[in-house]
Amino acid sequence: MTGRSRILMVMPYAHLVRKAVQAGFEVYAIWDPNLVGDNRSEVVARSAEVIWTDFKDEPGLRWCVTETAIRYGVEHVLHLGWEDTQIPVAEQAEALGLAPNPAASLRVVNDKAAMRRVLAERGLSTVRTVELGTPDGVADALAGFDLPVVVKPTRLAGSRGVRLVRDGADLAAWADMLAADGYHGPVLVEEFLRGNEFSVETLSAGGTHHVVGITAKQVTPLPLFVETGHLHPAPLTAADRRAITDLVTALLDVAGYRFGPAHTEVILTPAGPKIVESQARLGGDRIPLLVEVATGFDIEAGVFQALAGKPVEPAIASRVGCVAFFQLQPGRLESVDGLDEIEALPYVRELKFPFRQGDLVPETVSSGTRHGHVVFAAATAAEAQLRADQLRGRLRAVTSPDGASR
Ligand SMILES: Nc1ncnc2c1ncn2[C@@H]1O[C@H](COP(=O)(O)OP(=O)(O)OP(=O)(O)O)[C@@H](O)[C@H]1O
Ligand SMILES: [Mg+2]
Repeated sequence: MTGRSRILMVMPYAHLVRKAVQAGFEVYAIWDPNLVGDNRSEVVARSAEVIWTDFKDEPGLRWCVTETAIRYGVEHVLHLGWEDTQIPVAEQAEALGLAPNPAASLRVVNDKAAMRRVLAERGLSTVRTVELGTPDGVADALAGFDLPVVVKPTRLAGSRGVRLVRDGADLAAWADMLAADGYHGPVLVEEFLRGNEFSVETLSAGGTHHVVGITAKQVTPLPLFVETGHLHPAPLTAADRRAITDLVTALLDVAGYRFGPAHTEVILTPAGPKIVESQARLGGDRIPLLVEVATGFDIEAGVFQALAGKPVEPAIASRVGCVAFFQLQPGRLESVDGLDEIEALPYVRELKFPFRQGDLVPETVSSGTRHGHVVFAAATAAEAQLRADQLRGRLRAVTSPDGASR
């Protein structure tokens, strides 16, 4: 016995286990052996116990949560991983009185259609939306909309299958894309929100939502919407910042969200900010690192400090944190230069380049098909933009068009 509080974490990435342990917790982890990837040895080393189960087997996962929680007498059950297993885990935890968050709040936050319904009932962030059981009915549903619209599957993530539809050709291309992904589930048709896009990191504790910061997002040219870079904090007027944070905290309130991180995407339209979607987890795309670069606040460590009952104290930014995704010509990678040079720059915090000579560099159609990234600091948003362009230029990658893959 260590005398530390015990927590059960489902799908905890290695750095989260490390931060939980640093905050004084003993971690029991549940992971799917097929998903854990490079995390595995560090998760095993830092956890008191790891229980392996197939996350596709929902009854098995539910049983595992209950059994492990009771066996080790854990005080909380936390799931900061993928959305698709968060609700069953929260339901089991709730039945044991160990859920930091009501499962009902996750049903609103994580389901894009449910979130639209709950917001519409309260007249918040109204967005014209139609929900369909399968992609087949979209052509008919378009009759009720002015084009363009955005169409999206409700059960995929990472911008997969999210597309702007301007005409019949776009609709056909989207249907092909979903068919290639084997997706036949529910879809949303939404009014196209025009304006710059932002994401809001929050950390809730005891039902109070602490706004950690707002990040500006850059995306690929239409009709797809894959992120190509982020900048934190977003350059915004005080009035826009307030309108965005008020809307996001209102969403979390109406959802009944009480504890933990949320990552909410917002478009600032001429009619004010509108919610794109929210997720009950930390932002992806290295956003927590951008926050840390800009403000010194470690939002991941903050989750566990809050769980231990300590106050949540986000910091004011003293500089800008930025991530730029590389955008190479798809094809076979012939040669790559400049990586050492980039890594040696004093303002560069992290460099990831996932390809080696001979690899196929895919066309970017989703977050998972991007071409690596660099995280760096800058004094101002303008300097960050300049540095992003320079850093992309310093990566000298030659690809041959032959063999370009999707
Ligand atoms: N109604 C809309 N109007 C304009 N743009 C939209 C709309 N809905 C989605 N988008 C764009 O598409 C992107 C992806 O949509 P969304 O976040 O709903 O899907 P996702 O697959 O969960 O994406 P990700 O996991 O990358 O955040 C948004 O970040 C935004 O840029
Ligand atoms: Mg999104």
